[in-house]
Amino acid sequence: MKIIVGADHAGYPMKEKVKAFLQDRGITVEDVGTHSDDSVDYTDFGKAVASKVSDGTFQRGILICGTGLGMSMIANRFPGVRAALANDLFSAIMSRRHNDSNVLAMGGRLIGDALALQLVETWLETPFEGGRHQRRLEKMDIE
Ligand code: RB5
Repeated sequence: MKIIVGADHAGYPMKEKVKAFLQDRGITVEDVGTHSDDSVDYTDFGKAVASKVSDGTFQRGILICGTGLGMSMIANRFPGVRAALANDLFSAIMSRRHNDSNVLAMGGRLIGDALALQLVETWLETPFEGGRHQRRLEKMDIE
C-alpha cells in the first residue's frame, strides 16, 4: 500500500512521526508537506492529498491540522474521498468498518503522538464490513 500524507504547520510535527512510523513498517509514503512550523493554509495540503486519493493514485491518505476539522472538510469535497475525522479509537475503527474511510484526519493540537500512531495503525488494519454499509456508501454521491 502507498500512503500520501500532508499537514499544515499545526500538524507538521505529528506528520513527521506518522511518516516515520509508516516507513518503519515498509509502507511507501508520499509527503506533500508542509515541511516546517511556518504558517501555511491547511486547504493547500488537504487538496494535494485528497486529489491524489480521488484520482486513484493513492489508496489512502492521512491529513493532520490543528483539529483535523479543516482537513476533513476540504478532503470530503473531492469525489470518492471519504475522510474521517478521528481523534479517538472508536471513530477510527468505525470509520473503516462502516464507512470505508480512505482518508484519516487528525488534530495535532488535540491528541498526543502515541495516540495518533495507534489511530493510524488501527485505521490501516481494520477492514470494511461491506454488505449494508456498501449500499449506504453508494448513496453518498449527490447528483
Ligand atoms: C491553524 O491555526 C488551524 O486553523 C488549522 O490547523 C486547523 O485546525 C483548521 O481546521
